[in-house]
Amino acid sequence: MTENRTINNQLNHRTIRAFKPVNLSKEQLKALYSVASHTPTSMFMQQMSIMHITDPDKRAAIREVSKQSYVGENGDLLIFLVDLYRNQQIRRQKGKDDGRLHTADIFFQGVDDAIMAAQNVIVAAESMNLGVVPLGSIKNDPQKMIDILELPQMTFPVLGLQVGVPDQQPQLKPRLPLQFTTFDNSYPRDINIDELKDYDQTVTTYYDLRDANRRIDSFTDQIAGQKLDRHRTKRDEIMKVLHQQGLCTDEGID
Ligand SMILES: Cc1cc2nc3c(=O)[nH]c(=O)nc-3n(C[C@H](O)[C@H](O)[C@H](O)COP(=O)(O)O)c2cc1C
Repeated sequence: MTENRTINNQLNHRTIRAFKPVNLSKEQLKALYSVASHTPTSMFMQQMSIMHITDPDKRAAIREVSKQSYVGENGDLLIFLVDLYRNQQIRRQKGKDDGRLHTADIFFQGVDDAIMAAQNVIVAAESMNLGVVPLGSIKNDPQKMIDILELPQMTFPVLGLQVGVPDQQPQLKPRLPLQFTTFDNSYPRDINIDELKDYDQTVTTYYDLRDANRRIDSFTDQIAGQKLDRHRTKRDEIMKVLHQQGLCTDEGID
């Protein structure tokens, strides 16, 4: 722990998956939106937007895609969009073609913007004693999400965030020791999983509140397990869906 309040909050981060049945106040929501909009943005193109989902039917439909009971339950649900639609409209109304908007390069700039804004919102929310769960699970069925949110082409829902007043106190989840994740100047290729034994042991002492009756698998067992085992899912259609959205087609490179 340090004397620095921001760093202390960041080192205390825990994902929260149970919220009290209260919503954010207008002021809280506005503070989070303002933080998101002041996040660094690639080439100052501001290619992300946030959708606040209050419609109970949409929240239920998103929960179905996510297959996680807490999604769209208590708390406020925000969807971070890669949003190239706005800049496409600006260019068109200025009499220009879409230029590089359909390239993978510009798409990734939108992803950068959206994810950095989401993390900035997490830091802000946690500093307000709120809790957050990021929701990659909204991408379980990317086309379904686009349909639920009635999104135009040139947009893509990249991450959800559910924010609210925590109704649980999870343990701090242990991370890989820094020597495994931070390098000076060159990449160390000689990874020996025996060196992860202590970390594996630490991870198995973590209680996951999603299944409080059992400890979780070691880190190396999780990586060697079903998460990364071969299986086909709707998530594998992500590139097809991006192309249907007009994104990542690499059209516009001459
Ligand atoms: C990009 C991203 C997507 C995530 N998606 C989900 C999700 O769909 N559902 C969920 O319960 N947690 C999700 N999480 C939270 C992670 O499971 C969590 O950060 C990780 O287990 C470490 O736990 P901690 O955040 O409590 O330290 C996501 C985290 C990230 C960074």
